[in-house]
Amino acid sequence: MMIEQTEALDRANRYIEQNRHRVNPKYRDQYHLMAPVGWINDPNGAVYYHGAYHLFYQYYPYASNWGPMHWGHARSKDLVHWEDLPVALAPDQAYDRDGCFSGSAIVHHDRLYLLYTGHVVENGQTFQTQCLAVSDDGIHFVKSRHNPVIAGELLGDHGSIHDFRDPKVFAHDGSFYAVAATKTTDNRGRILLFKSVDLQHWDFFSTLLTGTAEQGIMWECPDFFHLDGYDVLLMSPIQIPRQGLAFRNVSSTMACIGQMDWTTGELTVQTTQEIDYGLDFYAPQTLVDEQGRRIMIAWMQMWNRTMPTHELDHGWAGAMTLPRELRVKEGRLIQKPVSLVYGQLEYLSGSENIDVSTRPVVFRNLVGDNTYMQIVCDLAEAASFTIQFAKTGQQALTLRYVTQTEEFHLSRAGFGYPITGDERQPLNSRAVRVPLVNDQLILEIFRDTSAIEVFINGQETMTATFYEIEKGHDIVFSAEGHAKIGSFETGRVRV
Ligand code: FRU
Repeated sequence: MMIEQTEALDRANRYIEQNRHRVNPKYRDQYHLMAPVGWINDPNGAVYYHGAYHLFYQYYPYASNWGPMHWGHARSKDLVHWEDLPVALAPDQAYDRDGCFSGSAIVHHDRLYLLYTGHVVENGQTFQTQCLAVSDDGIHFVKSRHNPVIAGELLGDHGSIHDFRDPKVFAHDGSFYAVAATKTTDNRGRILLFKSVDLQHWDFFSTLLTGTAEQGIMWECPDFFHLDGYDVLLMSPIQIPRQGLAFRNVSSTMACIGQMDWTTGELTVQTTQEIDYGLDFYAPQTLVDEQGRRIMIAWMQMWNRTMPTHELDHGWAGAMTLPRELRVKEGRLIQKPVSLVYGQLEYLSGSENIDVSTRPVVFRNLVGDNTYMQIVCDLAEAASFTIQFAKTGQQALTLRYVTQTEEFHLSRAGFGYPITGDERQPLNSRAVRVPLVNDQLILEIFRDTSAIEVFINGQETMTATFYEIEKGHDIVFSAEGHAKIGSFETGRVRV
């Protein structure tokens, strides 16, 4: 039935073992998932199987830039500490010879199945189909002899075989379904739904949703699930135009929240939102944890940006965000750090009732590589409140709340190694609107060596990478008017 994997896989695993020690540790994160060596992008195949969380990822082990995609693989008991496993898929068959692109995982009859995109380039044109691989031990995978299991015939006129990828498989009402990304002939994103009884044989089911001309030219990496009474489609639109503060990155992420009609297979969207307002967040994928919670992990990087670990020849590029629990409240997707991460926090210090005005309040040597901070600040009498984070000399990562506009700003401009991208102007700061709660700003900050994830009033998140040239350990608070920090707690994530 199945095809044993080949030399390409052995070669990748050998290369990793022989080269993992060559990676420059300077900017390596402490508790975010990275590959042992080489390039990673999207999270793939997130799943709970045989008592552990498995996460696969788009992987090119041989360099710190993108190349023919493999599936890297890691496993975790707590969603915070990851163990590297051998590469799961290599591009070694006619139907995936130029890359095993993004996809997902599902457990069926105690076996672990991967549904991924076979990527082939012929005369400069790409051709994409959906393929299956299976494992009995969660480590070694064999590809199906029926591959591709979702080929061009099933796609028909519904989309383009040149952009047809990133299947996310799920079970619903006794059947398997997979959403997959494609596009219309006039360059709008479209998500298709396919149905199967056994994961091997698939039928076209419906067009779940088609984008408007204002919603980007392609929607990558769809994910679809039911949560808190809503049907939620997550995806990553390319070139979605700016809408106010939203969608400032050329490659964005978007949640479409509404109701699914399972008789027509169409999603009626009630609200849309950008998922994370930071600079480095793409291609999120979800899994259901042991307790039935919906957990999301994204690639903590961005397409076509300067990647200092690549430019500086550090031998690696890319990491994953912390896993985050999703909920939908009043039609909005909200995120919080996965509860297991709190079990990994070591408490370091706490202060209360700090008065902050134009005269800065400085805490020296408080910011480390794996710092966690929680700041609760009353802004009833402040026009703005500014945090200079990891400050050294004139450099700092700046977090700022402006009371009148209700905007929270994050800026890495002038902080660390310069980063540019596809955006017309270098994009190094962003803002998001978050109302205060009883005049209070409540921040949770997870910092790792080269990244920060900020949770703002439990409503919005901002994720960004940075690469300090000189390490900053101070934190400086200042305000226009008078801000009162009710509590300021620091800790670190155990690594
Ligand atoms: C998204 C993406 C996917 C594709 C993969 C290739 O970041 O472009 O659409 O499957 O990356 O690595």
